[in-house]
Amino acid sequence: MSIPHDPSSELIHFSEEFQYMLDEYFNIQCRYQAAIRQVQTKLEILNLEFETKHRRNPIHHMENRMKTLQSITEKLHRKKMEVSMASAVENLYDIAGVRVVCSYIQDVFEVAKLLSEQDDISVIRVNDYIHHPKANGYRSLHLVIEVPVFLAEGRTLVPVEVQIRTIAMDFWASLEHNLRYKADGIVPHDISDELRKTADDISAIDERMQSIHDRMAKLDLKTPRQLSLFDET
Ligand code: GTP
Ligand code: MG
Repeated sequence: MSIPHDPSSELIHFSEEFQYMLDEYFNIQCRYQAAIRQVQTKLEILNLEFETKHRRNPIHHMENRMKTLQSITEKLHRKKMEVSMASAVENLYDIAGVRVVCSYIQDVFEVAKLLSEQDDISVIRVNDYIHHPKANGYRSLHLVIEVPVFLAEGRTLVPVEVQIRTIAMDFWASLEHNLRYKADGIVPHDISDELRKTADDISAIDERMQSIHDRMAKLDLKTPRQLSLFDET
């Protein structure tokens, strides 16, 4: 006797698999969120110390995100890798991401150096798209670092992708991303050429701003510290 085909069984099977991945995603979420916090705290401390010494902040602002389940599965598919959380943990280094937006180009490299030198961190990949911009004009310094996270089960090393760029580079990257996203990734040649030129112009402006900053720094103007030891009552 043949078993009657139940058209809903495939759906139930898929949904169980999906449910399993979702559970696994929530299981790993904790360590990636913890890693993001560790890195962000380290950067906040560097920023604070720099401010105390130099009376300005090299970090303008930071953003962070954990890759969504959808984007994890899409990336594994795209890279023709097994689609599972174990495979994601093994193969993807950008599940946790921190974006650091700095005021000046030199700040980007200073922040990267100070972070990389910390002895509980190992740098596992560096992509310097500032000295070697992408063909489309994209500029940014990408580090993949591993940070220790202490959980009930013990110490785990968790990779975090840190993207460090200037305000100007961030401005270009976020608009380019939106334009490309809206065009479904298909940008006509003349428009992509124009976009690359805007990236070059922005880079020239970044260098001029750096030079203005350096000239101002040489003047060695003594800005008085704000004395806020007492409440103004
Ligand atoms: P992915 O598969 O995209 O993660 O590439 P990858 O692992 O080779 O890393 P890559 O350093 O190329 O890019 C990682 C991230 O940098 C992306 O997810 C984006 O956030 C950013 N990025 C890289 N290239 C571009 C670009 O051309 N434009 C914009 N706006 N962002 C980019
Ligand atoms: Mg990546």
